[in-house]
Amino acid sequence: MKTWRSSSNGVIFLVPVFFSFILVPQLVFRSYASPPEYTRHPPRSIIFTEHNRSNSQPQQVHISLVGKDHMRISWVTDDTKAPSIVEYGETSGKYNSLATGNHLRYEYFFYKSGEIHHVKIGPLQPSTTYYYRCSGVEPEFSFRTPPTNFPIEFVIVGDLGQTEWTASTLEHVGQEDYDVFLLPGDLSYADTQQPLWDSFGRLVEPYASKRPWMVTEGNHEVESFPIIYPKGFKAYNARWLMPYEESGSTSNLYYSFDVARTHIIMLGSYTDYKKESEQYLWLQADLAKIDRLKTPWIFVLLHAPWYNSNDAHKGEGEAMRKAMEELLYNARVDVIFAGHVHAYERFTRVYNNTADPCGPVHITIGDGGNREGLAMKFENPAPSISMYREPSFGHGRLRVMDERTAHWAWHRNNESDSIVADELSLQSLSTSKVCTQKGESHDEL
Ligand SMILES: [Fe+2]
Repeated sequence: MKTWRSSSNGVIFLVPVFFSFILVPQLVFRSYASPPEYTRHPPRSIIFTEHNRSNSQPQQVHISLVGKDHMRISWVTDDTKAPSIVEYGETSGKYNSLATGNHLRYEYFFYKSGEIHHVKIGPLQPSTTYYYRCSGVEPEFSFRTPPTNFPIEFVIVGDLGQTEWTASTLEHVGQEDYDVFLLPGDLSYADTQQPLWDSFGRLVEPYASKRPWMVTEGNHEVESFPIIYPKGFKAYNARWLMPYEESGSTSNLYYSFDVARTHIIMLGSYTDYKKESEQYLWLQADLAKIDRLKTPWIFVLLHAPWYNSNDAHKGEGEAMRKAMEELLYNARVDVIFAGHVHAYERFTRVYNNTADPCGPVHITIGDGGNREGLAMKFENPAPSISMYREPSFGHGRLRVMDERTAHWAWHRNNESDSIVADELSLQSLSTSKVCTQKGESHDEL
């Protein structure tokens, strides 16, 4: 991959070990209690990933789940006449299916995007590799569909950006298999510099063309401007179209989907979430539809964390927490993942600022590798509900084993490899007699 390295944007400076083993109801976690010996690495530069294909060839290819057995293929061509078609099949070079979609362009001040294509393909078989090409031309790409049942593995990482640390994080992500990539906001850090959206798309293509990338928005996606672009999200909504309509949402900024018997809810920290807002009412209706026998696990992603003991962005998620926490608590959401704070922090099960065995685990995973660097300073002493925290870049893996058990691991970037620095085994609240009224439970509490 050809890269151009900025000399001016490397604001990243930065970048523990003994073992503790604690058992509390429904949670078993293992972690390095504090990271005293870890040497933090120096800043790393922004990467600008060049466009090295012809104008009619697809670039920035990424895929996303649509409904139970379809996939959306999204890409960009410089050629505005390139057709919005995807040819695909189960054998390399042999495409026995074809789907047609649509395309759009957007403008942002003096920038005019390439042709952005979105094509929905399917129905597709689960756990199957498909080969595909876009706009009728090479190169060929391939992806694997997720399973319909457990086990399933998610990679979760927020605040990704496009620095050398991002490349390191992605390389670690690619070293082990997984099914679906989840991103709780702050993708490109283009921050109105639209060519950086294109560069980001090219940087992530080797990963995002192979596995579905499901994202929600962060503050760096807003890109609003008074009078001219008051609503913001022009680039984000055009490029990262998510399956919001399929979940009854009227906005690309919040939606939900089912995959392999998990229900994933992507919330919007930067669109109205107050009680009686459209997002709130949609969330209420979405939660009411969940059948925990069909989807025993519920995971929520949002950008600004509701629980955070870092000095960075302290309190920014509080209004949303006050508006929506009760809904998610009553629905027995299992885990809430957030980004925004450029560090890793894991809380115990919590509700209304108090440890609660029926509340969700809260995890901040805003440590993808963005240009702003790490949030180094945590409040001291740590609040009792904060179980592990560390300002290092990395990524998380959530492996849902069955309807009852999942395993979470946080992988810290460690030069050429990644190290599991925090682990957690958890039990779905849907199988907890204590936390469900119907009590189809296997738990031993
Ligand atoms: Fe953010």
